[in-house]
Amino acid sequence: MSKIPEKINIKLNLATRLLYPRPIVLITSINNLGKPNIIPVAWIMPTSFSPPLIAISIALTRHSHKLIKESREFVINIPTKELVNIIDLLGSVSGKDVDKFKEFNLTALPAKKVKPPLIGECIAHIECKVESILDTGDHTIFVGRVVAAMADKDIFETDYDLRKVKIILRHEKRYLTTGDYII
Ligand SMILES: Cc1cc2nc3c(=O)[nH]c(=O)nc-3n(C[C@H](O)[C@H](O)[C@H](O)COP(=O)(O)O)c2cc1C
Repeated sequence: MSKIPEKINIKLNLATRLLYPRPIVLITSINNLGKPNIIPVAWIMPTSFSPPLIAISIALTRHSHKLIKESREFVINIPTKELVNIIDLLGSVSGKDVDKFKEFNLTALPAKKVKPPLIGECIAHIECKVESILDTGDHTIFVGRVVAAMADKDIFETDYDLRKVKIILRHEKRYLTTGDYII
């Protein structure tokens, strides 16, 4: 049997860091004039199989917060290792000031069932309509009902083939990617 490790107390404001590393997604949203925006998000979780629901947690201060609250739609785009260099940049400017599709040379493709675009360079997309909104401290949880989902045809059947794709995870200011299967 392995040894039980000795524990230290962690400051309460650092407790969320005990949940890292976390996978990163890029959420697209749109304003009422049709201008799209992108926000990197690590606070995301599935909440229901049937109906299919996924929750994202967005700070009140983000431009994306306003857009998602007003339009009640968003798309979850899954980036891979190839996009790692722009993840931090996408998260260091606001769509209030910058057109992030133009600035970072990303391709906006039409979604099937919602107005916010897909990011062409990502490997998968989940289109959501906001089903419920929950205020939680300095963030808001937007629960999205999945209305369409698609993935690159070579890398997904019933789950990702992780020998072919390298998902990005955030470990505070550092990034890592998925390794080899161990079992
Ligand atoms: C990897 C990464 C993950 C992030 N995760 C979240 C998150 O889960 N929720 C959130 O509100 N902000 C998150 N942020 C911060 C926003 O992405 C950042 O403030 C962004 O510039 C907001 O853009 P906007 O004002 O255009 O919406 C994250 C940033 C990075 C780089």
